[in-house]
Amino acid sequence: MTVSTAEIEEAAGVLRAGGLVAFPTETVYGLGANAEDAAAVARVFAAKGRPASHPLIVHIGAAAQLADWVDDVPATARLLAARFWPGPLTLVLRRGRRVSLAATGGLETVAVRVPDHPVALGLLAAFGGGVAAPSANRFGSVSPTIADHVRSELGDAVDMVLDGGACQVGVESTIVDATSDSPSVLRPGGVTREDIEALLGGTVAVPETSQVRVPGQHPSHYAPRARVVLVDPQKVVAEAEAARELGHRVGALLPSRLSPSATGAVAGLHAVVAVPDSMAAYARGLYGFLREFDRRGCDLVVASLPVETGLGLAVANRLRRAAGPRPAA
Ligand code: TXA
Ligand code: MG
Repeated sequence: MTVSTAEIEEAAGVLRAGGLVAFPTETVYGLGANAEDAAAVARVFAAKGRPASHPLIVHIGAAAQLADWVDDVPATARLLAARFWPGPLTLVLRRGRRVSLAATGGLETVAVRVPDHPVALGLLAAFGGGVAAPSANRFGSVSPTIADHVRSELGDAVDMVLDGGACQVGVESTIVDATSDSPSVLRPGGVTREDIEALLGGTVAVPETSQVRVPGQHPSHYAPRARVVLVDPQKVVAEAEAARELGHRVGALLPSRLSPSATGAVAGLHAVVAVPDSMAAYARGLYGFLREFDRRGCDLVVASLPVETGLGLAVANRLRRAAGPRPAA
């Protein structure tokens, strides 16, 4: 679980040779390739089964390197980087020429972040360049928060896995479109909207949350194999019980104020997870909970949305995506 300097050096060599390295960040594990090597980046897409139009995040070692990777750093982007890096914030800016178009899915913008994890920062320092890395999972499935998730899902498609233990944040970074001086949140994540608004003053738009409220618009993402249904918190137990009576193998994410012992009814379910009281613990555990339902063979998971403030915005976003319509098989 601890990663040695020798392993980090070896991993940097794998990147230089065009290989793929899975590494821990504070959010989730990433599947990294040299951001300037189109062939290596193509291997990332192949390993994930991800459409080539879906851009990756370029990880860099320090905010001071930002100008090497983007064309222009607006004042707001500079402020955000200074306040939140290293940390779970990704800035979308105009692409610098160094970044392979393969990494940006052909876009003229690039997503960049400085992760807050000693192993990730060690790797970036040893490698010296930018590391294009999506989350280290198959496309559409749940992001990995421990090294075993990566190994079981990607296997031989990855040349080396650096095992840094469990990720502390547990949901992905907040993605901010910072190409202009009126930034918007493209994906809620580890840095809260409130923290961004406190820094910049005024409100910051989160277009994605309003979009995903429209049913049927978004195919599922961040999803376990089990179908996920979202209901009001006070209905989780009754819905789960009704589904079990219909013959489903049911898992439930029980809101913390409904303790399993208080309900009795949940005893017949296949898997029950009591949602942690703290939102940070819920975010940290979320993907592990979803994987646990799959491990127990559940075909249906009943859950409710948390209050969408602080990290609750990211947790609710991932639950909505998990419950979204599935692409045709
Ligand atoms: O926490 C994280 O962000 C993790 C760790 C490994 O850093 N990475 C991650 O990467 O979640 P990925 O590839 O699973 O998600 C990156 C998201 C994608 O939804 C992609 O559409 C968006 O970033 N993205 C990347 N480049 C973009 C761009 N130029 N404009 C808009 N969105 C972009
Ligand atoms: Mg991902």
